[in-house]
Amino acid sequence: MQEKFLEFVDSSNKISVITGAGISAESGVPTFRGEDGLWNNYRAEELATLSAFNNNPKLVWEWYNWRRGLISKCLPNPAHYYLADLEKNRKDYLLITQNVDGLHVKAGSKKVIEIHGSIWKIKCVSCHYNEENLELPLNYPPLCPECNNLLRPDVVWFGEALDYNKLSQALNFIKKSDLLIVIGTSGVVQPVASFPVQGKNANPNLKIVEINLYETPITRFADLFINAKSGEFFKGINNV
Ligand code: OAD
Repeated sequence: MQEKFLEFVDSSNKISVITGAGISAESGVPTFRGEDGLWNNYRAEELATLSAFNNNPKLVWEWYNWRRGLISKCLPNPAHYYLADLEKNRKDYLLITQNVDGLHVKAGSKKVIEIHGSIWKIKCVSCHYNEENLELPLNYPPLCPECNNLLRPDVVWFGEALDYNKLSQALNFIKKSDLLIVIGTSGVVQPVASFPVQGKNANPNLKIVEINLYETPITRFADLFINAKSGEFFKGINNV
């Protein structure tokens, strides 16, 4: 499988990558769905929506403080490092991650769109203020230095629109790519879930390689499906 994967990579000039929670699972970051998924233990609508935050900002911040604490102890794994290396060797490359954990950046990736935001960024609920914030735990209530309103995590919550510029940059890049590598996403959360099929529709030459523990709605569009833990798979490749 590793040889086949490398054939796809070696024969492609323009490469895009989509990642989801599965790529960080071996780093110790919980995924959202599946057996140990976060959404089995917590109700998304009570924690990851604007109305939940408006109703009980303290509870939502407690949850984010818990996740920030957990993620701060996690290190990138061989899959994150492989992608950071791939970027260094390719001019025409873009990584689109749905993850808010910051592990791609920690591994050295620079051409990365954090399309669902970052748990390490916070923004004001009312003005345009935003900042990087690594405080652990973040003292409650965090207040905007410009308008004194409450600060919230700079992540996309359910029911919120994604940043239009990030979205169109990501999709345009995928549509012009030779290869799209999709790693560790269940492929059920829009709009990213439909990027692979939109890419294929716009560009029949686009090849798709998917790496996941299970088949997903994306698998039927994949030219190569690699049934593996991504960390283990890339550890093998990094050692070649
Ligand atoms: P999910 O939790 O929905 O899916 C994780 C995927 O990773 C599943 O398909 C698993 O089979 C796979 N997986 C688990 N461990 C793996 C491993 N070691 N190697 C490879 N694959 C593995 O996570 P996402 O698809 O990222 O959004 O979820 C998408 C969005 O839903 C998240 O960004 C989040 C969530 O609600 C927001 O919070 C806005």
